[in-house]
Amino acid sequence: MKKPTATRRTFLNRLWLGIGGLALLESVALVANYLRPRPSPESAGAGDPVVIAGPVDRFEPGSVTAFVQGRFYLSRLEDGGFLALSRTCTHLSCSVPGVADEERFLCPCHASAFDRKGDVLQPPAPRAMDLFEVVIEHGIVRVDTGKRVKRTAFASGQATYPVQA
Ligand code: FES
Repeated sequence: MKKPTATRRTFLNRLWLGIGGLALLESVALVANYLRPRPSPESAGAGDPVVIAGPVDRFEPGSVTAFVQGRFYLSRLEDGGFLALSRTCTHLSCSVPGVADEERFLCPCHASAFDRKGDVLQPPAPRAMDLFEVVIEHGIVRVDTGKRVKRTAFASGQATYPVQA
């Protein structure tokens, strides 16, 4: 009995089937990778969420200091209180860059504006910038980026003040 030989057409069909299968596998891998949960920006690559900002005297009243590592701004109010403002916009989570001028933060995505206390000056952001917990011990300011506080607006109890000696 004569053994059947593959024709050119059969060979090409199998070749295209193989290429199609590989493309399908690659597409499935891409979608699975896309859908895989990712760590939050605050915890990405960070073992310790506490950022040591520095001595209290380093921050002048009325100043805003960016901490890229912790993804927050340390705002020292005119009365000496501290707020650690998350850089994540409360509208659709874009990263809010540094202070656009002396008085406000501007989100580049949809033009929300926030003041130095994180309050909304201009929507569409629905609420004030989130806060991280500030702790001042022995004159050193620490910010715990693992403790995010959501709020609607600024209230005086949200600021942390150095203990007067
Ligand atoms: Fe900031 Fe939309 S994400 S205004």
